[in-house]
Amino acid sequence: MRHYEKHKGILLAGGRGTRLYPLTAITSKQLVAIYNKPMIYYSLTTLMLAGIREVLVISTPEDLPRFEALLGTGEQWGMSLEYAVQDQPRGIAEALVIGADFSGEDPSMLMLGDNLFYGRFDFLRLAMEGHGDHATVFAYQVGNPSEYGVVEFGADGHAVSLEEKPVAPRSRWAVPGIYLYPPGVGERVKAQQPSARGELEITDLNRAFLNEGRLKVQPLGRGIAWFDTGTPRSLLEASNFIEAVEQRQGLIIGSPEEVAYRMGFINLAGFNHTVSRLPGSSYREYLERVPDEIDSLSGFST
Ligand code: G1P
Repeated sequence: MRHYEKHKGILLAGGRGTRLYPLTAITSKQLVAIYNKPMIYYSLTTLMLAGIREVLVISTPEDLPRFEALLGTGEQWGMSLEYAVQDQPRGIAEALVIGADFSGEDPSMLMLGDNLFYGRFDFLRLAMEGHGDHATVFAYQVGNPSEYGVVEFGADGHAVSLEEKPVAPRSRWAVPGIYLYPPGVGERVKAQQPSARGELEITDLNRAFLNEGRLKVQPLGRGIAWFDTGTPRSLLEASNFIEAVEQRQGLIIGSPEEVAYRMGFINLAGFNHTVSRLPGSSYREYLERVPDEIDSLSGFST
């Protein structure tokens, strides 16, 4: 077993999605479409591409049954999916408390269901392989840092400060919604004070690791696309991006069926069985062609 397979995935798909109202009036933000798939497919397949097969999906009491209906047990993708409720939007870090038993003695990768990455995911696997008693976050240059957690680097390239949605950001490096934590992080969050807006802030947790010299901040250079899809505009930008790449290459991005097969979570028989249960659609037609493609030519790395 490869070392990184020890990590448990925690996928947070909570919140009220008020910035997307009325799209989110009767459905969860993370079920809204990014081009041709529910938003959560992209974050789920990111965890899968990192090699993670056990994932806890966290959502509101109203929305959780919809996620269960969509994703099921995960068996069809050679995965194990569990579900848990976040009954109030008490912050991203609370997901680590909710997921504490699920993660047990294992390290965890927390991913926000409204974040979308595209590119090669070697950076995730490398971070997982070197993962010890520290936390790892990533940094990505954006034009609108005030909307995110922002990390500032010192002259030696080490992170020196972390701030949540600063009015006057000290850098253009945003912290995307994917985080690696050592075992037992949930206990730490339990001792954390809520912020002024009453939430357990992920940035406060990361700053605590930083202050102890136990935070690795890995800058993501060019070659990775990162979108957060919390506003109508960013939703459209992400949809346009996915449509452009899929159309140009005739590929589908963020398909759990394809990723499960290419990652070896399911074999050809399992893949064919899973695909045979999908309704007739261009999505299914695409998947039916997947086994005929030569992996080594597609640049797909497992
Ligand atoms: C959250 C985090 C923020 C992070 C962002 C990434 O913000 O609080 O630090 O940069 O996710 O998407 P939110 O989008 O929930 O306001």
